[in-house]
Amino acid sequence: MENRRAFWREKVVLITGASSGLGLALARHCHAAGARVGLIARRVELLQAHCEELSRQGGRCAWHAADVRSREELERAVAALELALGPCEVMIANAGIYRRTNATCWATAAAEDVFAVNLAGVVNAIGCVLPGMVERDRGNIVAISSLLAFSGYPGAAAYSASKMAVLRLLDGLRIDLRKSGIRVTTVCPGYVDTPMITDRERAELRSLVSAPIAAKKIAAAIEAGRPMLVFPRSMYWLLRLAGLLPYRLLDTILGRQPELEETQTSRERPSTGIEEHGD
Ligand SMILES: NC(=O)c1ccc[n+]([C@@H]2O[C@H](COP(=O)([O-])OP(=O)(O)OC[C@H]3O[C@@H](n4cnc5c(N)ncnc54)[C@H](OP(=O)(O)O)[C@@H]3O)[C@@H](O)[C@H]2O)c1
Repeated sequence: MENRRAFWREKVVLITGASSGLGLALARHCHAAGARVGLIARRVELLQAHCEELSRQGGRCAWHAADVRSREELERAVAALELALGPCEVMIANAGIYRRTNATCWATAAAEDVFAVNLAGVVNAIGCVLPGMVERDRGNIVAISSLLAFSGYPGAAAYSASKMAVLRLLDGLRIDLRKSGIRVTTVCPGYVDTPMITDRERAELRSLVSAPIAAKKIAAAIEAGRPMLVFPRSMYWLLRLAGLLPYRLLDTILGRQPELEETQTSRERPSTGIEEHGD
């Protein structure tokens, strides 16, 4: 507990996708441990409300609206948050969406959006803070991938591919930064109970982890500088073992799984387009 507090005390933590779900749970967790948290997402009312909630508990918190698909918007947001809180020491590139991309009713626009948020959004977030971290030779880069990075899945071709790309992106950064003071952590969760999960899935899915529990696991991995966090481990090993099966058999088995459902949260929202922020 004391170690945890020592790691996070006054640390400047920027989190994308902090308006709901896992990002919000991470913001609450880090803030409770003493960090100064900067919240980034598009929904201004939510960012404002969450920031007010955290500020009432003491400690520092600030928010800035940005669409992670836009490098310029994100750069403005990170610059404003660093001005308010200090240089970023932990970047958690968490913003992500799930869109259905079933091959039988293919929608290129949906696939493009998945890559723009889940991959370009992570690249943009890292790009905003990495030069500063390299200069100071310290910091933590964290991105939220998924267990679906390890396998194809019905209706989720673009989502799986985007998460695999994030995994490899961080693998490469970790190699480049191996002799530096910067730690790189890839997080691959299974199902986490957030607004990304539909009510039917919530009722049916096994191994659904709550967002606060997932945030606690992720924070512990960041504190320890772990290169990779996967959970639940049973699901991870099942997917890795399944990967050893012949493709035709694997496709048949996975093809029997129900498609993941799209929720309203992942659908298109306009880019913020306005520079709104507060602390
Ligand atoms: N839930 C799961 O089972 C699960 C499993 C594995 C991995 N993950 C990953 O965990 C991460 C968090 O997802 P979640 O489950 O917490 O879902 P969520 O509750 O829907 O949260 C997604 C967050 O991303 C933000 N976001 C989406 N598009 C954005 C954009 N263009 N620009 C800026 N922010 C954007 C949303 O904020 P605004 O709409 O306000 O912008 C929201 O704060 C995602 O990367 C997801 O892929 C989730």
